[in-house]
Amino acid sequence: MPTDRVLSPARRSSEIGDEQEEALLTGQHVDRKGQTGRGRGFFTRWKNPIIVTWAAIATIIILVFGVLYVRSHPNDDKPTPGAPNTPNTPNTPKNPNTPNTPNDPKAPKNKKKRNLIFMVSDGMGPASLSLTRSFRQFTENLAIDDVLTLDKHFIGSSRTRSSNSLVTDSAAGATAFSCGLKSYNGAISILPDGNPCGTVLEAAKAAGYMTGLVVTTSITDATPACFNSHVNMRWEQDRIAEQQIGDHPLGRVTDLMFGGGLCHFMPNTSIGSCRGDDRDLIKEARKSGWQFAYTIDGFKYLRMGKFVKFPIMGLWAPADIPYDIDRKDTEYPSLAAMAETAITALALETRNSDKGFFLMIEGSRIDHAGHGNDPAAQVREVRAYDKAFEVVRRKIDEMETETIVISTSDHETGGLSTARQLHETYPDYLWYPSVLANASHSSEYMAKLLADFPERGKMKVTKYINDELLPLQKITDADDEEVAKLVKAKIDGLSSAYVWADMISRRAQIGWSTHGHSAVDVNIYAYPPEAAKKLWGNHENTEIGEFLRNYLDVDVDAITKKLREGGTHAKWMGKELDEILEEKEKSMGVGGKTGEVTVNGLDSYHGVHKRACMH
Ligand SMILES: *[C@@H]1O[C@H](CO)[C@@H](O)[C@H](O)[C@H]1NC(C)=O
Ligand SMILES: *[C@@H]1O[C@H](CO)[C@@H](O)[C@H](O)[C@H]1NC(C)=O
Ligand SMILES: [Zn+2]
Repeated sequence: MPTDRVLSPARRSSEIGDEQEEALLTGQHVDRKGQTGRGRGFFTRWKNPIIVTWAAIATIIILVFGVLYVRSHPNDDKPTPGAPNTPNTPNTPKNPNTPNTPNDPKAPKNKKKRNLIFMVSDGMGPASLSLTRSFRQFTENLAIDDVLTLDKHFIGSSRTRSSNSLVTDSAAGATAFSCGLKSYNGAISILPDGNPCGTVLEAAKAAGYMTGLVVTTSITDATPACFNSHVNMRWEQDRIAEQQIGDHPLGRVTDLMFGGGLCHFMPNTSIGSCRGDDRDLIKEARKSGWQFAYTIDGFKYLRMGKFVKFPIMGLWAPADIPYDIDRKDTEYPSLAAMAETAITALALETRNSDKGFFLMIEGSRIDHAGHGNDPAAQVREVRAYDKAFEVVRRKIDEMETETIVISTSDHETGGLSTARQLHETYPDYLWYPSVLANASHSSEYMAKLLADFPERGKMKVTKYINDELLPLQKITDADDEEVAKLVKAKIDGLSSAYVWADMISRRAQIGWSTHGHSAVDVNIYAYPPEAAKKLWGNHENTEIGEFLRNYLDVDVDAITKKLREGGTHAKWMGKELDEILEEKEKSMGVGGKTGEVTVNGLDSYHGVHKRACMH
């Protein structure tokens, strides 16, 4: 379910343009090739002598401030708005002690150096592609053969069921990728028998690769968590955060984490924390060498990856990064910008090592828009993901090291269909992209605006909805029943998000069958496609997991063994095995300690349709 969060807090805005600031600090031409909307040339910026003088002064101020800052705040534990805790030098040559050199001296020496970028479009089914393709053609006035970048890299499809259900959740879905094995819904790289399974990221780290995770939701959420932590239920996000910073039997396994979810790293004594206890993970992580970056200024400080010191954690939001439809570039980085920054930084850091990097990039909130049945938000999320894929493709073309990108989804969300019958009369064969284009915000954002409106009187709320809110979505024909539903939600103190989403969906004639997930197959994309031949056609999601480890040539089974060494795994996961199995059984309704893949009750019908009223 989408979490409620603080929307668009006012941000400190720098008076210096970021290009200019970048040139000042690096003294170098900033290569923006391929980036859109940043056309100004370097030399034109230096024409004005006032700017040059000012820039020289600014440079001195920044350098002096930087040095003073390092001297006076060697152990500053408070989140610094704007910048990582230590001003970074641009990628100094590697220290021979960093864990970047392969651990195993007997490893075959002439194996070719490789990078693997694995992209997950959480909750994106085939209908999301049709929706977004047509939306883009409509809004950008393109020909019908002008397709998404993803469309040009389609290689196959994936079956997504979990060990205990035909409909998977993100945790079991990501465990199939990370461990290459089926597990139960809710499992974070734990098998149905309660034991942890080694992940491709952990194995990559052990083999000497650099590793990274880039997401648009909390970094402790199911998909990223499955790569670098092990808990039996996905909501144990406090425990996940602890493992992610290195409180893990293998120590720290991740070199870079970008996304949201700062609240799970803050002690329950500080404002904005969502931890259950008073552990200050930011402090602990800094002690063990992590760099932290916050806010858009902190992101800009990384200079699109040229100024990154490892290990680095960039958490730009307490929980989710806002939907792309609501996001402002001046407040939060885009998925594409985060992806580019991560790839540039990891490539620079591994340039002298004989192993490359493994990076997982997730378009996390396509899924949230599906849960919210919000097509206006979803098309922008898919579009943002497609742009990120485009950037990854371009970076691969520029890279000297052999690199592949595989992109797939863990499951579909919402049962989306690009058609909807609204009345008993036979429906028209169409849907209206213009309705989605006219909506300027997500339903989540609209609900927040309504919830934050200070009045509760029926008349005033109704007037606010009619005069202020409906025009934002360009809804001109709201009927009394719809407005009454919004007013009721407001007065009852409930979220109106579903009502807003339904108003848009109906007008666009877009259908949804659930607020949860569905079992439909999802697409697989790759570039270059020849390097992913094993994934052409239709596959079980676990085969994608197998492909990842084989591509990197890493030993995931050895990691599994290590994680279970001495039977202590239950301890570091924070529970005894019996407790784990009991919890799993209780919350997921799945029995059996054997770990076989079964689904109970598929042959019997339980009369579910009568259980709750339908609408
Ligand atoms: C904060 O965590 C500590 C344990 O670490 C606990 O004793 C305390 O009750 C918690 N406080 C709140 C407000 O949850
Ligand atoms: C979208 O907005 C434009 C301009 O306001 C309007 O002409 C058009 O009818 C709207 N489309 C829909 C489907 O509401
Ligand atoms: Zn998911």
